[in-house]
Amino acid sequence: MKRVFVNGYGSIGSRIVQFIEDDCDIEVAGIGKYSPDEKVNDAISRGFKVYVPKNRVAHFKNFNISGTIEDKISECDLVIDASPGGMGHTNKKILYEPKNTRVIFQGGEKIIGEKAVAPFIFNSRVNYEEAFDKQFVMQGSCNVTGMGRIIQPLKEKYGKKIRRLDAILIRRWADLEDSKTEVEDSIEWSYKPHHDEDVKSYMGADTPLFIRAFKVPTRQMHVHAMDIRFNGPAPSMSEILDLYKNEYGVATLYGVKGTKDIRDYAESIKFSFKDTNMIHIHGDLTEVQDDVVKLTYSDDQTGIVVPENHLLMQAMLFKRKKEDAFKHTEELFHMEEKKRMLEEHFK
Ligand SMILES: NC(=O)c1ccc[n+]([C@@H]2O[C@H](COP(=O)([O-])OP(=O)(O)OC[C@H]3O[C@@H](n4cnc5c(N)ncnc54)[C@H](OP(=O)(O)O)[C@@H]3O)[C@@H](O)[C@H]2O)c1
Repeated sequence: MKRVFVNGYGSIGSRIVQFIEDDCDIEVAGIGKYSPDEKVNDAISRGFKVYVPKNRVAHFKNFNISGTIEDKISECDLVIDASPGGMGHTNKKILYEPKNTRVIFQGGEKIIGEKAVAPFIFNSRVNYEEAFDKQFVMQGSCNVTGMGRIIQPLKEKYGKKIRRLDAILIRRWADLEDSKTEVEDSIEWSYKPHHDEDVKSYMGADTPLFIRAFKVPTRQMHVHAMDIRFNGPAPSMSEILDLYKNEYGVATLYGVKGTKDIRDYAESIKFSFKDTNMIHIHGDLTEVQDDVVKLTYSDDQTGIVVPENHLLMQAMLFKRKKEDAFKHTEELFHMEEKKRMLEEHFK
């Protein structure tokens, strides 16, 4: 039994602990909280032990906390850092490096430059085994993970026949349960979206990917509009859609009006957190024109990285064979079943 500490109990941390507590090979040793708010009791009522930073213990005097983060992580085999973007690097310097802890960081961090947290970005479809002996690994963000799921099968089948991948990322403003962030009436853009560099870091620097990113006032997922330009005529629609038929974590849907339709359906059949944990290619929005395939898919912002973290844990903690790890993740996440239900409902 391996002990895992989840440092941060927000959108991502709270999802990860819910799933890994059902894994009989892993014990959730505790979770790290920083603010003395109602989520402390929420975590305790769900059976988790809550730990807080040494210098903030006094703020938690009205809560039944179990100790300090600093002491607890020394007893653990792995930490999942689910802190706000950028904070993972600070944690690395003050907590993890001094204690020689193994850590999975999340996609809001960097892997290049002074603030780099890890030598590489994990994507289970691309580089599962590379994580086996690493001390620090970063799980790609939701958009970066989704792009890997789309681009890797294309790369394997068509290689250099692909001339360019031009993607417009339409990003959600805030998460469903994020009550602190007000969704503003605006469309914002990113001057240098991190996704481009992040995807190329694990797909290869020569990946001909060009990204523009816009943030829109919604809490319901991201959408990517990707134009895949070929040297010569593009493959047929059916050939492209066939490519994703058996891809894990990729569903192909028809007749969806918008991202909320999918979340509403997920809620109606009680998927945890209204997440599908996957990306959804919109078959009736996808078309082929001359040398270009115009592919549109939505990306479950909060759900997609949670099974990825589980796969990454299996690589780092058990060096489990890739196919066995996927089988084990499926036992907890039931993504094949979710995909079948989604494709049956939106057909
Ligand atoms: N949300 C998404 O859709 C999404 C998708 C993919 C990847 N990610 C990445 O996942 C990471 C976490 O995002 P999130 O959306 O879960 O953020 P979030 O909802 O804001 O939650 C962050 C959590 O971190 C805690 N925290 C604060 N300071 C901390 C510190 N120094 N060390 C550890 N934890 C600390 C907060 O605790 P208190 O509440 O107690 O203050 C809070 O529970 C980010 O890197 C983000 O980019 C997010």
